[in-house]
Amino acid sequence: MSKSSASFTCTACAAPYKKWQGRCDACGAWNSIVEEAPLSSGPKALGSKGRAIPLTDLATEEDPPPRASSGIDELDRVLGGGLVPASAILVGGDPGIGKSTLLLQAAASFARRGLKILYISGEEAAAQVRMRAQRLGLQDAPVGLGAETNLRDILTTLDAERPALAIIDSIQTMWLDTVEAAPGSVSQVRAAAHELVTFAKKRGVAVILVGHVTKEGQIAGPRVVEHMVDTVLYFEGERGHQFRILRAVKNRFGPADEIGVFEMTGNGLAQVTNPSALFLSDRDRPAPGSAVFAGIEGTRPVLTEIQALVAPSTLGTPRRTVVGLDSGRLSTILAVLEARCGIPFTGLDVFLNVAGGLRVNEPAADLAVAGALLSAREDVAIPPDMVLFGEISLSGALRPVGQTENRLKEASKLGFQQATLPTGSKTTGGTGMRLQQMADLTAFVGEMFGAG
Ligand code: TYD
Ligand code: MG
Repeated sequence: MSKSSASFTCTACAAPYKKWQGRCDACGAWNSIVEEAPLSSGPKALGSKGRAIPLTDLATEEDPPPRASSGIDELDRVLGGGLVPASAILVGGDPGIGKSTLLLQAAASFARRGLKILYISGEEAAAQVRMRAQRLGLQDAPVGLGAETNLRDILTTLDAERPALAIIDSIQTMWLDTVEAAPGSVSQVRAAAHELVTFAKKRGVAVILVGHVTKEGQIAGPRVVEHMVDTVLYFEGERGHQFRILRAVKNRFGPADEIGVFEMTGNGLAQVTNPSALFLSDRDRPAPGSAVFAGIEGTRPVLTEIQALVAPSTLGTPRRTVVGLDSGRLSTILAVLEARCGIPFTGLDVFLNVAGGLRVNEPAADLAVAGALLSAREDVAIPPDMVLFGEISLSGALRPVGQTENRLKEASKLGFQQATLPTGSKTTGGTGMRLQQMADLTAFVGEMFGAG
């Protein structure tokens, strides 16, 4: 059966269904399937004769897209070096994380550099946005401000004004009068995003769509918006924590996984140009259970502290609580420690945490995680001037990871004097740090904790 006959869609993963059901077969979400209005245009027109598309060849020369700098370096880097004209960008994040604040600051900064910017708020009245601008000291920036949710009116305005960039805050509040569904529904969000992205490409207007994320971590409504745009950025952070991380999860015009680091202050978001210093500044005195990981986020080395707490459990199934890391990765490392080094964690609760609210996705963090776990379990502190990195394989061997030299340079810059890393890591030794290269986890345990 063709997909177009489907009239129900899962709001979590966008899987199509012909009739309603309580649970999505594709992603397992409950009560996520909703009815969708039929498409008003589409395959039915395909019988008519189309127009031949002009073809070129692969060698056709094209200048790299010129980019506009926002003047906010942390934002420019995440965009892959500035804003690409006529591109479509989705900025997702939890409600209240600071998306509107970030984009108002970006709008003002672009406008002050001479770009024509429209900021369309569908969530707040113009007066509210003006109040925020005043609080941020941005009231003089020549940003065009509109408060509207009707997309027909918005597109008419954009067509008349032809700004370099239009910010739509948020895509979930927008509605098309041609789609019979409530604003925020899958059909509306999908149709609105489609109209805006198409407009961006045709008219050369870059658009930034703001999208709220559901508690499962997905852009509320359809993930399809992610597929439509060129760039997807997530604005993350722990509530009650002042750090905010803008992460590129998809970028047609730059590296994905690049991050920009900000701090939420009373006067809006401030850039954090040296995140390592910031993530480590919270560090308590060197204590058992703490290991410093020399990681790479996008193109940039970032040092973070991995903290572990290991305590006797009163539960039949001991607790495994992880913040900022993949819990599957923790289970794997615990299993390798037990099977290859004979160090069991049975009967022990394990808590693992990345300090500062950062999320670490690199397998290179394995060795620092193992270090923190062992240090907590054995109650032996890791030397405070040591960084660790390396991937642990299921056999217990340590595997070298990329960008060894960059990791060491960053650590050395911040005053670290020794590093523990896998044998075979590519380094010139140019940093002058004391390097302890280890072939496997057993050697590491023996060296650091005198056991194994
Ligand atoms: P906001 O940008 O409205 O979040 P979003 O658009 O993602 O929903 O941010 C709201 C939060 O940021 C709010 O809790 C107050 C805080 N905030 C500051 O701490 N300092 C500031 O200067 C501003 C404007 C907001
Ligand atoms: Mg907002």
